Amino acid sequence: MSNCRVCRAPVHEFFDFGRHPLSQAFITPEQVGDEFFYRLAIGACESCGMVQLLEEIPPEQLFHKGYPYHSSNSTVMRAHFEETARRFLADRLTGPDPFMVEIGCNDGVTLQTVRDAGVRHLAFEPTGVGGVRTHGAFFDAESAAEVRASDGPADVIYAANTICDIPDIGAVIAGADALLSPQGVLVFEDPYFGEIIGRTSFDQIYDEHFYFFTVGSVRSMARHFGFELLDAEWLPVHGGQIRYTLGRAGSAPVTPAVARLLAAEENDRLTDPSTLAAFADRVTRIRTDLRELLERLAADGKRVAGYGATAKSSTVTNYCGIGPDLVPFVCDTTPSKHGKVTPGAHIPVRPPAAFSDDYPDYALLFAWNHAEEIMAKEEAFRAAGGKWIIYVPEVHIV
Ligand code: SAM
Ligand code: TMP
Ligand code: ZN
Repeated sequence: MSNCRVCRAPVHEFFDFGRHPLSQAFITPEQVGDEFFYRLAIGACESCGMVQLLEEIPPEQLFHKGYPYHSSNSTVMRAHFEETARRFLADRLTGPDPFMVEIGCNDGVTLQTVRDAGVRHLAFEPTGVGGVRTHGAFFDAESAAEVRASDGPADVIYAANTICDIPDIGAVIAGADALLSPQGVLVFEDPYFGEIIGRTSFDQIYDEHFYFFTVGSVRSMARHFGFELLDAEWLPVHGGQIRYTLGRAGSAPVTPAVARLLAAEENDRLTDPSTLAAFADRVTRIRTDLRELLERLAADGKRVAGYGATAKSSTVTNYCGIGPDLVPFVCDTTPSKHGKVTPGAHIPVRPPAAFSDDYPDYALLFAWNHAEEIMAKEEAFRAAGGKWIIYVPEVHIV
């Protein structure tokens, strides 16, 4: 039994994936045998409903100069972040000298549009890869207060796929309180637990994703730290996310979308023990079905390649016991992953040409959240008779 990272009430475990390596710790073949492992298990708080991991990895171990994820890799995500920036420019960055802050800008994909519009901006990004004005510190109460002193109050603090990565979420809200102007807002978007349940997308569960938000748990969390959930908006990216807008209590009216989404969550009984037990059963089923399929294809002499050496795929390969015997290589566009092997499962990572120069019979789509973009790009694979294996919401071939 562990205690909720938000409200300290007991957290009840509903799935244990066993021992896992760090999801983005790609290693050279020589480093095999020298990996860090932790217990990947997930539970829900009995009081505030926050779904969270039971073990916490120190942030410096996950996010450092060698962090291999680059947001701009996906054209769909690039368009999404440009559109996000344009919306902020139109509705929240309209005062005399507006100031936008981002937490976890990664390669600067969102703030580049803000920079090009001539608007003051600053990113907190410990991996230090931003092509925009970047502060190399982790965002917390202290670093936020420093920026407040040097740059003045922020109108917007934005974060995508980052707040769910920060176990000390109280420090994020304290930082927002220190840095935001009186009417300023903290806007963040992360994978939605309702989608994880709905799609059985268990591979969203890995070390970086510490929290799995619902509208209800984010509202409780905001109130716990003296803020209010002002708006919530569903987004179609990364397998279904919600964008939350938080402000100081009473700083703006709460939109009707919040009540609407809360009612849907109550209706779906998202964090009821019976819902979580049924999810656990479906995850176990996916493991059995995927292993059976891959073993059958290997026995039939079919060639299978992995597509996308995602962080998510670490959960799939390590939980399902999928190694190079079943999937001899995985292709990925990220140069720093090439020549390495995947964490724990030790599947070699190769450049996209390894896929397109000699198409396999099947491609196991680890980057299923980019399915539309990837399938459009890889039409020739299908035309050559290739088939995609997808494992959410259940194992199927398309
Ligand atoms: N925002 C990008 C996107 O949505 O594609 C990047 C998401 S990536 C999964 C998370 C990023 O947040 C990493 O680049 C990491 O270095 C950064 N990060 C994690 N914790 C942070 C913190 N406390 N303060 C600032 N950045 C942080
Ligand atoms: P993500 O699912 O966390 O966004 O990670 C996507 C991974 O998939 C990343 O390592 C880049 C890789 N990728 C490709 O190899 N080809 C593609 O077309 C896309 C969109 C991503
Ligand atoms: Zn709690």
